[in-house]
Amino acid sequence: MKTTEFHSLINGYASDILYSSGMQAEKSFIQHGTISVFEHSIHVVYLSICIASILHLSINRRALIRGGLLHDYFLYDWHIPSLNHRLHGFRHAGLALKNATRDFKISFIERDIIQKHMFPLNPALPKYRETVLICISDKICAVCETLASDWTRKRMKSRLFLKCPPLHTILTKKNGVL
Ligand SMILES: [Fe+2]
Ligand SMILES: [Fe+2]
Repeated sequence: MKTTEFHSLINGYASDILYSSGMQAEKSFIQHGTISVFEHSIHVVYLSICIASILHLSINRRALIRGGLLHDYFLYDWHIPSLNHRLHGFRHAGLALKNATRDFKISFIERDIIQKHMFPLNPALPKYRETVLICISDKICAVCETLASDWTRKRMKSRLFLKCPPLHTILTKKNGVL
């Protein structure tokens, strides 16, 4: 999928999420290596749409994009030691869902994506194929982002985002104003 097409998709379905103060705050929370939670969420959504399109899966794109963007909406930096961040791996999906339902109108599929994206660490079974797609993409992105060298990360960034200036703007600028 072309990044310009991806940009139109996420802007069309989820501009309220992308430019919200919560999502913008994710730019300052590290997820893996030097990758922010915001970047990670974009990576996961992009990969899940690519997989769905390669496999010709019939999916609810709106729910996939919105649920994928919010799947790690726990709103803190889990690398900073705190009693509130204990057992992050097990608890953050529940916290993300709580924050997401507070800040946005969430559909059943989006709820399932956020709540169950940590399967099998969280044992609740995904109910929708959109959840399975985000589960798989999340794990692939986590491994790539963690293992990638700085050089590879920069290359990933330029490949994915620099070819589409508006997408790069969303990623790097505060409030992502276009
Ligand atoms: Fe997560
Ligand atoms: Fe994630």
